[in-house]
Amino acid sequence: MPDAIAVEALSKRYGDVHALDDLDLTVEQGTVVGLLGPNGAGKTTVIRILATLLRPDSGSVRICGIDALREPERVRPHIGLTGQYAAVDEKLTGFENLRMLGRLFRSGRAESRRRADELLAEFGLADAAARLVRTYSGGMRRRLDLAASLIARPEVIFLDEPTTGLDPRSRSAIWRIVADLAAAGTTVLLTTQYLEEADRLADTVAVVDHGAVIARGTPEELKDRVGGERLEIRLDDAAQYERAERAIRGVVDGSPCAHDGEGRMTVAVTGGALLMPALVRELDAAKVLVVDMVVRRPTLDDAFFALTEQRETPAPDADPAPPRPDAEHVTAVAAGRTDKR
Ligand SMILES: Nc1ncnc2c1ncn2[C@@H]1O[C@H](COP(=O)(O)OP(=O)(O)O)[C@@H](O)[C@H]1O
Ligand SMILES: [Mg+2]
Repeated sequence: MPDAIAVEALSKRYGDVHALDDLDLTVEQGTVVGLLGPNGAGKTTVIRILATLLRPDSGSVRICGIDALREPERVRPHIGLTGQYAAVDEKLTGFENLRMLGRLFRSGRAESRRRADELLAEFGLADAAARLVRTYSGGMRRRLDLAASLIARPEVIFLDEPTTGLDPRSRSAIWRIVADLAAAGTTVLLTTQYLEEADRLADTVAVVDHGAVIARGTPEELKDRVGGERLEIRLDDAAQYERAERAIRGVVDGSPCAHDGEGRMTVAVTGGALLMPALVRELDAAKVLVVDMVVRRPTLDDAFFALTEQRETPAPDADPAPPRPDAEHVTAVAAGRTDKR
């Protein structure tokens, strides 16, 4: 399949801030790509450039084979955008919003009404069609916004944090809509801070940090990069950590062990579940009280934190970064360091 989106060496500065720093990205036609990154990573800047709303300082952008920087007006009919903040008119009804957009896209009167009704039904908004948008819930607005970006049936759609701030039910409604779009062959580029969302929706994920793509792959590939399985042991008494580590050392074959100071130990292992009986025997013999013990595959969270943390090596005298609950011990394991605190 050809690339629906091809971005090369995109850079954008705001004063001293390098919002984008030589960012490369390709999105194959008909796939869903998730741009995953923390706040301030540069996700919205990428989307705004791709949607022809913002010009980069340098780099190239091709969308559906068209040079989007040279010929933005030729790109626009191919794309739809749902921004991070709802862009529908509160003083109109849901139906009026969609009909007006249809007219703006130069559809005839009858066709505009028909398309508005069709989308309202598809997005579960038929009952609220005649209500002012002002009275809609956040989830309903977001769905209407998404419907609005689909009026002209674009081939490529950009969704900037489509579910941020939504309740779980509205979130899964949006997920279903995105899955349907993808199934119908639409190319989707979505940004998200939620690993679960990227895992659920995206064929491939591009991890963005400080304005550049630092890793790219399927969710499974990214998990594999963090390696193996995780053995997690929750101790009844955090003070027993050293004793527990001594007890299991022989069984886990000297794998580095990390703990969070609150009784949770993490060990990178292979052949996890088979080790369980021996682990239980050794811990019992050492009189270590265990609350819980599981073996799991690394999650996309593990991968994400490991990837972003590896890049952040603070200067020795710098203030320590604010603690992120899982980041530190996961990184210690990923890097093969032993972390005994
Ligand atoms: N209009 C602007 N003026 C100045 N700085 C901006 C502007 N827009 C974004 N930035 C900065 O650029 C960086 C990337 O922002 P953004 O693309 O919004 O990130 P994200 O969407 O991933 O949270 C941030 O450091 C942000 O503060
Ligand atoms: Mg943003």
